[in-house]
Amino acid sequence: MVDVCDNELYAHAARVSGQVVLITGAGSGFGKGVAFEFAKYGSKVVLGDVNADCVKATADAIVDVGGEAVWRQCDVRDWDQQVALFQAGFEAFGRIDIVIANAGIREIGGFMDVMQDENGLPQKPVTDTLDVNLTGVLYTTRLGIYYLGRTPESQRAARAIIHIGSMASMAALPGGVMYTAAKTALLGLLPGLHASLHHQNIRTGVVCPWFSDTGIMTDAGRAFLQGVPLAPVPRVVGAIFRAASDAEETSDGCVWTIPDDGEVCRVPREHMQLVGGVYTVLNERLARTGPRKKWSDATPSVSKDLAPRLVGSVVSATPVSVVN
Ligand SMILES: NC(=O)c1ccc[n+]([C@@H]2O[C@H](COP(=O)([O-])OP(=O)(O)OC[C@H]3O[C@@H](n4cnc5c(N)ncnc54)[C@H](O)[C@@H]3O)[C@@H](O)[C@H]2O)c1
Repeated sequence: MVDVCDNELYAHAARVSGQVVLITGAGSGFGKGVAFEFAKYGSKVVLGDVNADCVKATADAIVDVGGEAVWRQCDVRDWDQQVALFQAGFEAFGRIDIVIANAGIREIGGFMDVMQDENGLPQKPVTDTLDVNLTGVLYTTRLGIYYLGRTPESQRAARAIIHIGSMASMAALPGGVMYTAAKTALLGLLPGLHASLHHQNIRTGVVCPWFSDTGIMTDAGRAFLQGVPLAPVPRVVGAIFRAASDAEETSDGCVWTIPDDGEVCRVPREHMQLVGGVYTVLNERLARTGPRKKWSDATPSVSKDLAPRLVGSVVSATPVSVVN
């Protein structure tokens, strides 16, 4: 892991001046902090949150000190509301450059406590945690890919799509199975996004903080963690800023952790990869897959005779182009 000192978190801040940054869940906590930091360094910000009063307050505070901000009430579970948020930013500022998919909620619904309905049958689970923390993030990501692609090539500078994971991305969170599943999935999403987007100079990254004292914490959570050092909110905000603004190729597609109250650590890409056997082949293919190259160009051709024999094997799980 590579330590990133506090005084390096804003080392590339000059790159975001004049850029348009869209942040979900910007009414509180990390999202609000990140909005202020981008605005401070000259970015125009597009802010969404399910809580209209909070996100309006963030935007107003930025405008009051001379910054540029637009806001919309936006529930990330709702595709149309997310489209409206991106479109509002695009219409106000002419482009979107950086997307921070930050909105998230804690575990709700008690997945492990299977209750009975009025007929004595098992109740369907409440999936809000997955809907916000994973489906909502996928919507934001897809819209990010679309809107970042609309920036004319001559105007493209710092571009990034950054996700907010958690310590639960890498370790089980007791009592938070759906939260853990959603945050772990963001690590699964990262290599594929990086493989496709780094050729377009769109940075990717997942920032994984340890517990931090924001609106997501309950009093019960605070009591449970009493005496345990928390990740300072400004440091997490700085890690998100750095993941988005960094100019280095080596830090693109990486996981950034704040594992305790200490410094930010960056996990090099290769440390997140399985190696050996089929994984080596897959890693090489991912590295070779470029934007204009079709998947069929990046895979070996096999003869028509051989193709049926691949069915059912591990190799057949990857598309192969058949030579007639
Ligand atoms: N604070 C922590 O301990 C911690 C640790 C690891 C990861 N995280 C992650 O950080 C991110 C930000 O959380 P935070 O700690 O700043 O908490 P927070 O509660 O202070 O902020 C989250 C914001 O997201 C908004 N939001 C909730 N549901 C939404 C929805 N459906 N659509 C749009 N906005 C919605 C909330 O209104 C709130 O303003 C989340 O993804 C969270 O999972 C937090």
